Amino acid sequence: MIKIGLIGTGFIGNMHALVYESLKGKAEFEVTAVADDNPEKAQSVAEKFGATAYRTAAELIEQADVNTVDICLPTYLHKDVALHAMNKGYHVFIEKPVCLNDAEADELLAAQRRTNANVMVGHCIRFWPEYVELKKRIDDNRYGRIVSASFRRLSPKPRWGWQQWMDDPAKSGTASLDLHIHDVDFVRYILGEPDRVKSEAVYRNGSDSHIFSVHKYGDVVVSLEGGWDFPDPFPFEMGYRVRFERAVVDFNSNASPALVVYEDAGERIEIKLGEDRGVSGASGGNISSLGGYYNELLYFLECLNAGKPIGIATLEDGVKSVRLALREIEAAK
Ligand SMILES: NC(=O)c1ccc[n+]([C@@H]2O[C@H](COP(=O)([O-])OP(=O)(O)OC[C@H]3O[C@@H](n4cnc5c(N)ncnc54)[C@H](O)[C@@H]3O)[C@@H](O)[C@H]2O)c1
Repeated sequence: MIKIGLIGTGFIGNMHALVYESLKGKAEFEVTAVADDNPEKAQSVAEKFGATAYRTAAELIEQADVNTVDICLPTYLHKDVALHAMNKGYHVFIEKPVCLNDAEADELLAAQRRTNANVMVGHCIRFWPEYVELKKRIDDNRYGRIVSASFRRLSPKPRWGWQQWMDDPAKSGTASLDLHIHDVDFVRYILGEPDRVKSEAVYRNGSDSHIFSVHKYGDVVVSLEGGWDFPDPFPFEMGYRVRFERAVVDFNSNASPALVVYEDAGERIEIKLGEDRGVSGASGGNISSLGGYYNELLYFLECLNAGKPIGIATLEDGVKSVRLALREIEAAK
């Protein structure tokens, strides 16, 4: 039986708790322990699962009846907690970005080689229905190859963070590493490593808050924009526009219909995906669907239960995406 210790019950930890509640009966697992620096938060999430509450990640890893941990801590805490869990022989899920710099990335990869741990990184966009649909249409080659594309992710400044850790570039990597990495990772997933990267960024209070990048993959040009310098009333928006040889696929999370295909042959096709958007705003953040979070954790549990290695959003993927985002951040300086 997979016995999970959920570490961190802030924005994303709560989201994962909601997913585990809805996965009950659909996958073999138990949440047996929950840790948070705020004991009341840990206790209230633990009660949902009949789990034991702990104050710190270290206490949970040392004392709890678990074989798997789900690390939903501020990014600067990921590496040490992941190393601790791998050294105990546990399976590990780590939220994105998996770490902050090259040195941490090297330590994580070395620990995985040494312990042979199963590690997955929370690159939920690889599991987000509209992005899964795009990947399907790339893989089945129905519109030919990609000619060009643009991806964007725009948000008001996240203000919910514990001790305002997101404001500190040394703790979060700020907008380019924390937010924009979702698109950096997805574009890496569909196109691989770029031949060329150009970037420019907007800096506020000493850190980048909005980045604009152009990647070249052979003759394919891709633009990526990510920023969290929008006013509070601005609705979080993610989207893409992918120009294939014979069609354009256009997704805007705030539009209705959100996903439309425009074929060169003249058709306009609205795509309706049968996803569950029933938990809108449940965790108080800027994402209105459990879709990608649900699908990624289900995939993680299925791999563990089947004894299969993680194949999507591996530790190596997480590390490569951090390195590519850092390359953009350097290019923008
Ligand atoms: N996949 C996504 O879409 C997504 C969305 C938001 C955040 N994230 C990532 O998830 C991670 C967490 O972000 P968040 O927004 O949930 O942060 P948050 O500030 O909302 O929550 C962090 C929680 O960790 C707790 N905590 C801090 N130190 C602890 C310790 N030593 N032991 C136990 N608990 C401790 C805090 O009390 C807080 O509840 C970050 O890496 C972030 O980039 C991913």
